[in-house]
Amino acid sequence: MSISESLDLAGRSSEIIVSAFEVYTRRFRSITRLARRHFERRDWHAAQRESSRRLDLYNDTVNAGLESLRALLEDKIESRPLWTAIRAAYQQRLGDRRDDDLAETFFNSITRRIFHTIGVDPAVEFVIPASPYVGAFGRPWSLTESFEREGRDVDLYRRVLEHYRFAADYDDLDGDAARIAGMVASELDGRQVRGLELARAVFYRNKGAYIVGKLHTDRDDMPFVLALTNPEGRIVVDAVLLTADEVSIVFSFARSYFLVEMDSAREMVEFLHSIMPRKPIAELYIAVGCNKHGKTELYRSLLNHLRKTDERFEVAPGQRGMVMCVFTLPGFDVVFKVLRDRFDYPKTVTHREVLERYRLVFRHDRAGRLVDAQQFEHLAFHRRRFSEALLGELLSAASETVRLEGEHVVIGHLFTERRLRPLDIYLRETGPAAAHEAVIDYGQALKDLAATNIFPGDMLLKNFGVSRHGRLIFYDYDELCLLTDCNFRVLPEACSDFEELAQEPWYYVGERDIFPQEFRSFLGLEGELLDAFLDAHGELLDVEFWRRMQDMHHRGDVLDVFPYRDSRRLRRGSPAVHRHPEEPKA
Ligand SMILES: Nc1ncnc2c1ncn2[C@@H]1O[C@H](COP(=O)(O)OP(=O)(O)OP(=O)(O)O)[C@@H](O)[C@H]1O
Ligand SMILES: [Mg+2]
Repeated sequence: MSISESLDLAGRSSEIIVSAFEVYTRRFRSITRLARRHFERRDWHAAQRESSRRLDLYNDTVNAGLESLRALLEDKIESRPLWTAIRAAYQQRLGDRRDDDLAETFFNSITRRIFHTIGVDPAVEFVIPASPYVGAFGRPWSLTESFEREGRDVDLYRRVLEHYRFAADYDDLDGDAARIAGMVASELDGRQVRGLELARAVFYRNKGAYIVGKLHTDRDDMPFVLALTNPEGRIVVDAVLLTADEVSIVFSFARSYFLVEMDSAREMVEFLHSIMPRKPIAELYIAVGCNKHGKTELYRSLLNHLRKTDERFEVAPGQRGMVMCVFTLPGFDVVFKVLRDRFDYPKTVTHREVLERYRLVFRHDRAGRLVDAQQFEHLAFHRRRFSEALLGELLSAASETVRLEGEHVVIGHLFTERRLRPLDIYLRETGPAAAHEAVIDYGQALKDLAATNIFPGDMLLKNFGVSRHGRLIFYDYDELCLLTDCNFRVLPEACSDFEELAQEPWYYVGERDIFPQEFRSFLGLEGELLDAFLDAHGELLDVEFWRRMQDMHHRGDVLDVFPYRDSRRLRRGSPAVHRHPEEPKA
C-alpha cells in the first residue's frame, strides 16, 4: 500500500467511525428527549421500554460501524500501522468537539473488538485523553439557568417552577413554592438565600423528574434538588433535597441511569461533581447514561491508583463466593468479580445463566438496591500486583478466565462493582443501634426489590452490602429472578413424625418454588435483631405478601421507589401513589 493510499484509507475509515458515533449520539438524544413526554403523559411503560432501548444503542452502532469498516478495509482491518493512522485522522476530525471524551471511548470500543486488545494499546486506542476532561470548562456553566432572589424567597421558587413548565399543569404551584421555601428555611441556619443555579435540562428516571442544581447563600453554596412527580396528571413537587449526601443517593450506583438532555456530558458531569464532590467521575458519567465512557474513566482511575500506590489486589473481605472469585485493592472502592470455572454444590446455574442475570439487572429498574456492574474484557496487570493467595486462587479456580502471560496476569472477563461492606461483617463490627437500623433497611430492601418485580434468590446476609450512606444494597445475582416467575407456596403440614423429622423435604419442591415461611432460618439473624426484623417486616414471611406483589405486577402497575426520605417530602400525609423507603406499611 502506498503512503497516499494508506492516508486515504485512514481518512475514510475515520469518517466511518465519526459517522457511526454521530448516529449513536443522535439516537441517544432522540430517546432521551422522549422522557419528558412520558413523564407528562404518565406513560411509565414507555419510559421503561425506552430507557432499556437506549442501553442497546451503543453495541448496535459499534457493530454497524465495524461492518462498514470490514467492507472497506477487508484483509487490512488488522493492520496496526494503518490503525495508528486512522487514530490520528480520527483525532483530527474530532477537532474541538464538546463530546470528544465520548467519541474517544467509541473509537476504543471499535479497536478493542478488532484487536481483542489485552491491557491497553496506546497505538490504536485513546488511553490518556487527548485533552484533559475534568476541569476543562470555565465558569459560568453553559448548561445552567441562574435565578436571582428578588423580594421574598417564595417568589424565587415560584419563578423557578414557572420556568420549568410541563404539558401538564402544576397541581398547586403557589403551595409548592411556599412549602419549598419552608423546607429550605429550616436548613438555612441564619444564612440568606441569594439565588439558584440549576441545570436547564430536567433529569428523568422511572416515574420521577428532578431539577438539579445549587442554592447560593450569602455564605456558601448548598445542593438543591426538586423531585417532581405526576401522580394524577398534575405535576407535584414531592421533595426538596439540600445536602450532598441526599443528592448523592439520588445519583446512586444502585439506580438506573437518568435520561437528561445535554450538549456535553463532560460539562454535565463537571457540574454534578461540583454538587457532589465525593462521587467518582466514572459514576457520574454512568448516572447520566454514558456508561461506556464511565468505564473508561473507571479504568483510568484504576491505572492512576496503581501508579500512585504499591497496593496489591487481595481477596475481598467476607465469605468466599461459590460462583465468583472476588478481589479488591485496599485503597480503591471497587470489587472485581471473576467467574469460577466450576460452581460447588448446591449451585446449579450455568455460566451463561449467571451472565444473563447480570444482564437482567443491567436492564431492569435497580430501585436503589442492586449494585451496578460494569464488564471488562482482556485486562492485564503485572503479577506482583496480586497477593500470593489471590493469584493462587485465580489460577486454580478461574483458570478458564485468568492466565499468566510472562510477568502479566491476563483476565479474560470480569465485573466491577462499587465495594460495599458485606452485611454479615457489618453486623459483627457495628454497634447495636446501627445494626438495628441495617436490619430494618435489609427488610426494606427486600420490599423495594419486590416492588420492582425482583426476587433476589439468595437473600443471605453475606449477599447484601452496606453503603457509605448506610443503605442496604444487594450484589449477588446468580439466583436473582423476576418475582412473577416465582411460585410462592405455603409449607405443607407434615402428616407424620416421620415426615416431620425427614432431613430432605418430603413434599415436592419445584425449581421455582419458594416458601416464605422458611425465610426465618435463611436470614441468619438471631435474638434481638431477628425480633426487630420480624417486628418491622414480619409480612415478608407470609405467602400473601408475595402473591399480592405478584398480582400487582401482573396487572402492569409500575411502582417507583423514590430515592429520598419521607421526611423530605413536602406533602406528607397526602395519599402516596408510590412507596417510599421509609413509608410505613400500607
Ligand atoms: N460489591 C461488593 N462489595 C463488597 N464485597 C462484595 C461485593 N460483591 C461481593 N462481595 C464479597 O464477595 C463474596 C462473594 O460475592 P458474590 O456473593 O457476588 O458471589 P457468589 O459466588 O455469587 O456468592 P454465593 O456463593 O453466595 O452465590 C460476598 O460474599 C462478599 O463477601
Ligand atoms: Mg454470595
